[in-house]
Amino acid sequence: ALRLLAPQDLAGIRVAVSAGGTREPIDPVRYLGNRSSGRQGAALAREAAERGAEVDLVVANVSREVRAEARHPRIRIRPVETAAELATAMKESAATAEVVVMAAAVADYRPAQAAAHKLTKEEGILERIELVENEDVLAALAAARAAGRAPEGQVLVGFAAETETSVEGRRERARRKRERKGVDLLAVNLADAAHGFEKHDNAVEVIGRDGEVLAAVSGTKRAVAAAVWDAVAGLRP
Ligand code: CTP
Ligand code: CA
Repeated sequence: ALRLLAPQDLAGIRVAVSAGGTREPIDPVRYLGNRSSGRQGAALAREAAERGAEVDLVVANVSREVRAEARHPRIRIRPVETAAELATAMKESAATAEVVVMAAAVADYRPAQAAAHKLTKEEGILERIELVENEDVLAALAAARAAGRAPEGQVLVGFAAETETSVEGRRERARRKRERKGVDLLAVNLADAAHGFEKHDNAVEVIGRDGEVLAAVSGTKRAVAAAVWDAVAGLRP
């Protein structure tokens, strides 16, 4: 349903959101992937658009169903497959975005080379796959911002899925990760059997610049999205 009474606190703001999970080709029929559905990213895009933002949504391998959740006149959808494609698209969208939210699960590594033909057992070359590290897109965006190659006052938000079950342990990892990436906010979610990947609900804490817990929300991915945008709106002058 269209929310006619949504607050318009993001009106006229340009945002870039990434969603889904990248696939790194091994050969023409195989890839290294992950379980991200893209639902959290789609919910973030939808919430922002309904609050008035102009949204670029870079989607990596999400289903038609999830893409449909993000259908809105103020959302431009940009499909990608690999981490390298996602990096290119996000850098382009981030160049004019006042807020960037990286909700995609980006593969940390890719096969050193993608074979041009389907690898076979006969050839015996499937036993080991050599991997090389992918670029950290979020860290690259933070570096671009630090170098003055980003809109004035740009806000960067990361998402981290952690399987660590102790709340304090998760917070500590999140604080270190936020610092390491050089971003303003890090939303941390518990990826267990009931929450996170492939699920409709999420349990998230948003960690701020001083390591403080700015928001804690457990519920639908839409509720999580609303809390993240509230935290972002709270940072902007
Ligand atoms: N991210 C990114 N580029 C990568 C990997 C991650 O931009 N190559 C972003 C994700 O989109 C997310 C944030 O960084 O917003 C945190 O991702 P996460 O995988 O939790 O962090 P990593 O630094 O890869 O650490 P880990 O070893 O826990 O995977
Ligand atoms: Ca990672």
